Amino acid sequence: MIERPAPLPVTCAPRLTRTLVLVGLMGAGKTSVGKRLAQLLEVDFTDSDAEIERAAGMTVPEIFARLGEAAFRDGERRVISRLLAERPGVLATGGGAFLEPRTREEIAVHGTSVWLRADLALLWDRVRDRPGRPLLQAPDPRAVLSDLLDRRYPIYASADVVVDSQRGASHEAMARAIVEAVHAWDATQAGRQPTLEAR
Ligand code: S3P
Repeated sequence: MIERPAPLPVTCAPRLTRTLVLVGLMGAGKTSVGKRLAQLLEVDFTDSDAEIERAAGMTVPEIFARLGEAAFRDGERRVISRLLAERPGVLATGGGAFLEPRTREEIAVHGTSVWLRADLALLWDRVRDRPGRPLLQAPDPRAVLSDLLDRRYPIYASADVVVDSQRGASHEAMARAIVEAVHAWDATQAGRQPTLEAR
């Protein structure tokens, strides 16, 4: 029988010892759920795309158009590396960040990764009418998303924790599901300081 970890005390937010790094495809809810999660844990929230935009003084589509995807990926890797060295918080990453082996390695060392998994129909409903994602500026963006899903899901699957993004679930419910899943994962990691500790 699998032992369930004792529930976290609900009286105050658990203390975060490592950055929680949200990974997953565009539309999975990394930014919206991540903001709520950060509030719940009383830590800072950062979005790697927003940080890259700030550092470059350009939007993500502008970076892709003017400098190319390789330059964006380089900036993404450096920004995430810098953010992982800061105080533990919640970090939402762009959908391609976890594909970079060095980034995955750094996240494994300094953070706890959480894959927000969602099916194609849900992702497509969320991204279809939202511009600003250069990879979806294609004649058949749904096919592009489907292809990214096929290629990336085996890699996202190496995240420490997997949480399914449910249609209709509130950001609050998703954030709480992440806390529970991380807590359960911590309990399986003998000899490693738990990501979430009771204060
Ligand atoms: C990308 C996802 C985007 C952004 C860029 C590339 C990707 O972030 O980083 O457009 O490769 O999947 P979101 O996942 O936050 O949309």
